[in-house]
Amino acid sequence: MSFISHLAQRTWTSVKMPFIKTNPDKKLFTPGPLSCSQSVKEAMLRDLGSRDEEFLNIIKLIRQKLVDIGEVPPEEFTTVLLQGCGTYAIEAVFQTSTPRCGGRVLILSNGAYGQRMKKICDISSIPCDIFEFPEDSAVEVAKVKEQLRKGDQYAVVAVVHCETSTGVINPIEELGQAVKHYQPQAAFFVDAMSSFGAVPIRIQNGHIDYLVSSANKCFQGVPGFSYIIARKSELLKCRGNSRSLSFDLVDQYEGLEGNGQFRFTPPTHTLVGFVQALQEFQEEGGVKGRARRYKQNCTVLQRGMEELGFSKLVSGDSGGYIITSYYYPDHPNFDFEEFYYRLSQLGQLIYPGKLSNANCFRIGNIGNLYPNDMKYLLKCIGKVLDGMGVPVPVPVPAPISLPMP
Ligand SMILES: Cc1ncc(COP(=O)(O)O)c(C=O)c1O
Repeated sequence: MSFISHLAQRTWTSVKMPFIKTNPDKKLFTPGPLSCSQSVKEAMLRDLGSRDEEFLNIIKLIRQKLVDIGEVPPEEFTTVLLQGCGTYAIEAVFQTSTPRCGGRVLILSNGAYGQRMKKICDISSIPCDIFEFPEDSAVEVAKVKEQLRKGDQYAVVAVVHCETSTGVINPIEELGQAVKHYQPQAAFFVDAMSSFGAVPIRIQNGHIDYLVSSANKCFQGVPGFSYIIARKSELLKCRGNSRSLSFDLVDQYEGLEGNGQFRFTPPTHTLVGFVQALQEFQEEGGVKGRARRYKQNCTVLQRGMEELGFSKLVSGDSGGYIITSYYYPDHPNFDFEEFYYRLSQLGQLIYPGKLSNANCFRIGNIGNLYPNDMKYLLKCIGKVLDGMGVPVPVPVPAPISLPMP
């Protein structure tokens, strides 16, 4: 037996495969991946060819539907679908929208996803400035206006709508208006990953040129593709900008418009599942209906956590209703890893914090979750605290003011 076939045989015989199907699903109170309905998962039990007429009609339908949900005129806007998670779409927008010569980006940031935009630009050698705000409050329009008035001329100004690292919602419409007033040459780019479909966004009122989200966020599809709602006149100015083939949105757009296909292998199952997810979104009453349920989830969660004594990171209106960050209780028996593990054993998955300067964890209420799921999670949290010997109401840490990251 050759060395290679010996290795291959060892690998095949020594790796035990887990019985994935027999493990029950846990409830995902996270920013993603999110829980999906059984019917979305079942819709994916199809094998479709990427050039088949049925599949091409699915692509067309999804592209049209997303423009429709965005309430923008199809003559002026288009949806570009792209393989991969949300970060891929963000990278594609920067690659495509920033001219190779002399193009500069301004990022308005108040959290980890704003910071990630900066990292994307830095790694791609796209010249970029970042204007930072504290993580527990919204980007301030007045300060942005001042910066735009006196700062460099930018090709792109970018901001995150719901900073999922904290839950803070940024005032994108006012920011977009400021961008077009002070820097009309700049394209306005909004990362609406965790908000589009559940938080109303007036794309035209906010002068948004590129809006990005992904399949597995508020539409409750499964991960596998992201999408960009783009103003055609802006997009078509960008031919030849991209330093990357895969992330070239003009090329991807022209492929989709030309023969109706993705340029490279599409995530067929995810796209079929997304059609079912859109159907369920529509049955729930569109953006209004989804917002209603997520708000109910959030109210149940926040009331219950307050009764348990937990303190929110973001106070006032900036918090939104997508995800909530809570300070760790101030008690020697509280250890986040143990808290997480014990909740996971009860089938409840929460999420660690993503803050530079404070100890927090996060609980999301988006995805296929309902008020009763939130109530059950709260019950489990009470039980876990009891098991850890952390008294309820939990001792609250002294308030801190967050510096710039
Ligand atoms: C606001 C925001 N931007 C970007 C991302 C990154 O998306 P992905 O993890 O799909 O790449 C996320 C993920 O939760 C997000 O919430």
